[in-house]
Amino acid sequence: MPRFTTLFTLKIFTTRKQIQEYLLATGSKTIGFVPTLGALHNGHLSLIQQAKQGNDIVICSIFVNPTQFNDPKDLENYPRPIEADIAKLTAVNCDILFNPDVTEIYDGNEQWHLNIGQLEFLLEGEFRPGHYQGVTQVVYKLLDIVKPTALYMGQKDYQQFMVVSKMVEIFKLPVKMVMCPIEREPEGLAMSSRNVHLSAEEKQHALILSKTLSWVKAHFDVKNVYNLELEAMNMLQAEPGVEPEYFEIADGKTLLPANENSKTIVALTAARVGKTRLIDNMLMM
Ligand code: PAJ
Repeated sequence: MPRFTTLFTLKIFTTRKQIQEYLLATGSKTIGFVPTLGALHNGHLSLIQQAKQGNDIVICSIFVNPTQFNDPKDLENYPRPIEADIAKLTAVNCDILFNPDVTEIYDGNEQWHLNIGQLEFLLEGEFRPGHYQGVTQVVYKLLDIVKPTALYMGQKDYQQFMVVSKMVEIFKLPVKMVMCPIEREPEGLAMSSRNVHLSAEEKQHALILSKTLSWVKAHFDVKNVYNLELEAMNMLQAEPGVEPEYFEIADGKTLLPANENSKTIVALTAARVGKTRLIDNMLMM
């Protein structure tokens, strides 16, 4: 009996014209979209796998978006291993990679401001001013190009998911938001493109983020939120080489302090480990 192997080829487009013409020619199909900054790891690939289950076509974008980086050094140092990324996308049978240049997305001095209320200034917003304006700006543009049926984003960037959901609500965009669970290394560290900057020793110290979140979840009692936050900050501070920025137990929708009416509650944290800034979170209920 002859054996057949299906060969998937990843289509790569770098201009909006190319990708839009291709999508027009393929007719009406459901499109799952996974926007990324590249330097792909299993967290990103899990989003693609989830998108593949529910859609005819899966598109991943790799675009290191300058407007969301508030630190020019961070933008400059952001890893860009495009060949390895293409190999990973091919291995998970992603259909299309959209990999535009900065000039394809931004044509000069554009202005963007979207009023997303408090979500912009809390937590990450406080430590990365302007970050969510850059995120909403680029995601809006990418959605306009790709026009997906569903947008797959990770719980890893919990606040980002809420910010983009708010934008989708404001513009009444016809796209379904899908939150995908956090992929972790075996010892608990949340996968992140920034983990490549951690030394072996820093990686060990970085485990304190997920350990602290798990400890808080194990001791979670809504009446003692204040004490839990305090103890969590102490645990993070006690770890060598780790400088926590925040640890907050928040309402899962508004990200304001959790209260007795909160339907979901999430603990979120950010810390510097050496020179690398890491974020993590865990649902408490
Ligand atoms: P990036 O950091 O590359 O992440 C792309 C997507 O992968 C995001 O939705 C993020 O939440 C998800 N992700 C990252 N690490 C993950 C993990 N360990 N488990 C599961 N999902 C994970 O987030 C961005 O890019 C950008 O801000 C972007 C949305 C592309 C806009 O430029």
